[in-house]
Amino acid sequence: MAEIVFDDSTRSWLIRTAATSYALRLTDDDAPSHVYWGPALTADQLADVLNRTEERWDSFNDPNEGLDELAADGGTRYWTPALQVRFADGTRALEWRYLGHDIDGMSLRVHFRDRHYPLRITLGYHVPAGTDVIERWTELAHDGTDGPIEIIRADSATWVAPIRPDYRISHVTGGWAAESQLLREPVPHGETTFGSRRGITSHHANPWVMLDDGEATERHGEVYSAALAWSGSWRITTTRSSTGRLTVTGGFGQDGVVPRLAPGDTLTTPVFAGLYTDGGFGAASRAWHAYTLDHVLPHPGELRPVLYNSWEATGFDVTEAGQRALAEMAAALGVELFVMDDGWFGARSGDHAGLGDWQVNRDKFPGGLEPLVREVHRLGMKFGLWVEPEMVNPDSDLYRAHPDWVLHHPHRTRSELRRQLVLNFARPDVAEWAFGTLDSLVGEHGIDFLKWDMNRPFSEAGWPGAVDPDTLWVEHTRSVYAIMDRLRARHPGLRIEACSGGGGRIDLGVLARTDQVWTSDNTDALDRLVIQHGYGQVYPARAMSAWVTDDPNFVTRRSTPLRFRFHVAMAGVLGIGGDIVKWPEEDLVHAREQIALYKDIRPIVQHGRLHRLVPPATDGLSALQYVAADGGRAVVFVFRQAAHFHTRERPLRLDGLDPAARYRDEDTGKVWHGASLLAHGLFPGLPDGDFASAVIRLTKV
Ligand code: GLA
Repeated sequence: MAEIVFDDSTRSWLIRTAATSYALRLTDDDAPSHVYWGPALTADQLADVLNRTEERWDSFNDPNEGLDELAADGGTRYWTPALQVRFADGTRALEWRYLGHDIDGMSLRVHFRDRHYPLRITLGYHVPAGTDVIERWTELAHDGTDGPIEIIRADSATWVAPIRPDYRISHVTGGWAAESQLLREPVPHGETTFGSRRGITSHHANPWVMLDDGEATERHGEVYSAALAWSGSWRITTTRSSTGRLTVTGGFGQDGVVPRLAPGDTLTTPVFAGLYTDGGFGAASRAWHAYTLDHVLPHPGELRPVLYNSWEATGFDVTEAGQRALAEMAAALGVELFVMDDGWFGARSGDHAGLGDWQVNRDKFPGGLEPLVREVHRLGMKFGLWVEPEMVNPDSDLYRAHPDWVLHHPHRTRSELRRQLVLNFARPDVAEWAFGTLDSLVGEHGIDFLKWDMNRPFSEAGWPGAVDPDTLWVEHTRSVYAIMDRLRARHPGLRIEACSGGGGRIDLGVLARTDQVWTSDNTDALDRLVIQHGYGQVYPARAMSAWVTDDPNFVTRRSTPLRFRFHVAMAGVLGIGGDIVKWPEEDLVHAREQIALYKDIRPIVQHGRLHRLVPPATDGLSALQYVAADGGRAVVFVFRQAAHFHTRERPLRLDGLDPAARYRDEDTGKVWHGASLLAHGLFPGLPDGDFASAVIRLTKV
């Protein structure tokens, strides 16, 4: 039974989630200390763990080192600091004093203050119903009247892994058009920091880690994972010491950026959620997906529509006639949401001008947007629009009117990337302008969907005249969140896709106020298998936007069959991004069939459970399977990346089925025993050759 209990005699808290336990306590000097995280233990069983606290045995070695619940800088603590402050008089060390705690159902807040200085610290914990996810955060408050407190580092949580003979870390790395490439490697001794200093989540790293003892597999083993709900700069540091201990501390911010807490101010960090699972990486991913569906996404019960997006078809060259032709074709294929991408506003005929001027371009749309929106609605589709609200081209009316609205330092270059500068959304006037602009755009034109893009990282992140310019790193992201939240509140039907040059802004923070994310600007189906594999380690298919585009591919110039492109995209939220008015009739027929097939399997893909059967590689075969939430249907995707040598087809072992049940292949009518599909496998029956693929639907009979 999930509960949070406090034991006064040991000054410890036990958090029992659906299937795991977590415990912390106070040391004799009132510091919060980690006790336990792992398989479920009762309070009684936990007493064995609590009794084993060791005494310090010399001046150099501390057996409790690394056990801090939130490693604070100060005293004889030498571990990676998670909380590091400098008080107004220059003192730079924290001494904890316990004040009390509140338990409210599955939420716990433990309150402290510094022994001398006016800083209150609260450690927050919350376990969403039915999960083993522990959401943690930190609240800081300056409750004095003297000068400000510098916040050098304020992590959301430090997660302490149990002692194991060895440790391995899973994380993703990559770049633009190459996001989410999964790496599994030994955890180095010392400190390793993953992060982003770009003001966005980034394409290069993503704020989650998974840890195991080196022996977990897809289906077996204990995995400790943690994911940060934040879309700005972030850092996660693993610290592995010679004593055998490993911790993961993480939160927003970056080294060298030191915001100040003024008297009366408070600072609440984003959530850094932790999860212990048994059952391999597959079980860990499924638990994150279930958490995201049940507790993060705003409308998880909805099925995401099949989308069309004009970007790869038209680039900036959008016109009313061109969009109408695409919309008509899209509707005929079965598309449900038509999105007009970049190029519809201001002087936007390329990436050099127009960003910031969110008025429809009357040369391209003489009658405004209304006729196109009306036509798209008449065709039975929702209408979506691309925007990039945080940006401005220097060649724009907005910049000419407000050159001071961008991030800048007075005597520094304003570095342009993609010929654009970043608007300072931490400024209330800029945020108000952005909200007003988007609010009227959505309201006046009946827009159902926004693709909210962000096409460059921060640079020269100054704010001349501000009391504390360093706050902008956090406040910009908060402001993006607030504008999205306000827009959604004002327009309950509005849905949002988060995008940042593809997958530069994918995290649990943005997923809490959007409906899907643009996974990557790389729509090459072969590369997408790898990107989607990495994305899906934590984030669910329900939010993973995937388009079928033209051949050869826009980014990689690789050719793959249309069927393969469809099958890869159908493992997420299917979209079409090709120039469909130029597709030959046979491709249109095929597209219609595949879209109809997708609509049939969509509830299983978007709301079911993912089982990765064989991970993607550069050649050979990969496969994944979704099982419907009620277990009644399953869909298996099989891809041959490349054929090599002459090998007979092998059975593919399925997962997540009921061994006692029988399953009918909906296309062939053959009936299989669940037990044999699990123990022996299914012959996928792929045609010969490279880029062969199959979608196999099974129904429990
Ligand atoms: C980014 C997005 C693309 C497209 C372009 C438009 O690169 O990721 O999908 O919207 O911007 O300029």
